[in-house]
Amino acid sequence: MKIIESVSAMQQESDILRRKGRTIAFVPTMGYLHGGHTALIREARRRGDYLVVSVFVNPTQFSPGEDLDSYPRDIERDIRICQEEAVDTLFMPAREALFGQRFQTAVILEALPRHLCGRSRPNFFQGVATIVTKLFNIVKPHIAVFGEKDYQQLLVVRRLVRDLNFDIEIVGVPTVREADGLAMSSRNAYLTTAAQRRAALSLHRSLYYAAERVAGGETSAAAIIRACRQRIAAHPETDIDYIAICDPETLEDMTVIDRPVRMALAVTVGKARLIDNMRLTPGSSDD
Ligand code: PAF
Repeated sequence: MKIIESVSAMQQESDILRRKGRTIAFVPTMGYLHGGHTALIREARRRGDYLVVSVFVNPTQFSPGEDLDSYPRDIERDIRICQEEAVDTLFMPAREALFGQRFQTAVILEALPRHLCGRSRPNFFQGVATIVTKLFNIVKPHIAVFGEKDYQQLLVVRRLVRDLNFDIEIVGVPTVREADGLAMSSRNAYLTTAAQRRAALSLHRSLYYAAERVAGGETSAAAIIRACRQRIAAHPETDIDYIAICDPETLEDMTVIDRPVRMALAVTVGKARLIDNMRLTPGSSDD
């Protein structure tokens, strides 16, 4: 596996691969890799014939007071996992290589970031859209793979690729869960007590509960949100940021569930801000 730290070396590598007719599949990450990332890497491996993974904890998608400095990192382990997954190139630039002192450009989306996580994390999607644009220009992939756990991020990336005419296929991969149902996330490392872990399980259990109620004929978004709020708030150490039932494309809130919708939630448990989401389909309980 090649490890590349320089932007120009990565661009040259991609230019050579493209000239040779190789199909570059790309998985951008912030490291501390887990089973969710492995699923993205394997999907990318299936779709391309040259696999690039990036590890970069992007400072521009954190607001002041968020966990940029304490974000879990273990680069030796990440390198080992990438080797085991037969990654061809690991791109791990230094912060200064991507955001020098005079950096001043941002990619801003109008509507999607007004919803869900964008309300409480005002810098987040601008930071994501900007770094993803930069990484696309550096890695020059044909295909890029993102997780559905970060559903709003996936929509933002799909939108920016269309709006800015990137010639890149965006692939979404279903959420990978632990044996107990918790969506895999690097931030699960912050869950340190059994009570926190139990509280964290209330997220996906609420989603499954909601899916069953909608499958059983419930059409009121407010009724479902109220019931889920009670279920989650019953656990100490939970702080609900939002529970939303929304249009799966625009993320606008919905009041009547008369077609497939997306339910999404964000809850802080102890130090961990956790998110999860699921499709709710009237007359069906599968995701
Ligand atoms: O999902 C992530 O890990 C990050 O938001 C991404 C897409 C790598 C951008 O920093």
